[in-house]
Amino acid sequence: MHQQPYLIEFPRIGNTMIGYISVAENETLPFPVERIYWTYYTPESIHRGGHAHHRLEQILIAVSGKIIVNTEMPGGQKERFILETPHTGIFLPKYCWHEMHYSHNSVQMCIANSVYQESDYIRDYDEFKKIP
Ligand code: TYD
Repeated sequence: MHQQPYLIEFPRIGNTMIGYISVAENETLPFPVERIYWTYYTPESIHRGGHAHHRLEQILIAVSGKIIVNTEMPGGQKERFILETPHTGIFLPKYCWHEMHYSHNSVQMCIANSVYQESDYIRDYDEFKKIP
C-alpha cells in the first residue's frame, strides 16, 4: 500500500507584533533530511513537476506566494493542495505524480530525503500508470 500525500503544519513561534519563525527538524519530519533546494522566478505560464519518484520523498513549502500542487497516486486517486502560508508544507511520498503551478512571487523550498538522481525519476505518465 502506498503512502498518501498530506499537508504538514510547522510550528509558528512568535506573534503578529514581532513576526514568526517556523522550524523543521528531523525529529518531527517524516524522513531524515538529505537535501534542501529551492525554486523561484517560475513564470505563471509554466507547470513544473510532471513526474513521480521511485525512492525520493519530499516536502514542498511555499515560503512566499502561492503554489498549487496537483497529485495522483498509483490507482488514480487525484488531489489538489494549495500552499499559501509559510508554515504549511505538503509531503509527497514515493510514487506520487505531482504537477505544480506557481504565483509570480512564489519561492518554493523543497526538503528531500535524498540527493538528486535522474535515474530515480518516472517522467513518462504511461509508465507511471502501470505502477500497481
Ligand atoms: P525537475 O525535478 O524536473 O524540476 P521540477 O519538478 O521543478 O519541474 O528538475 C528540473 C531540471 O533540473 C532537471 O533537468 C533536473 C535538474 N535538477 C538538478 O540538476 N538538481 C536538482 O537537485 C533538481 C531538483 C533538478
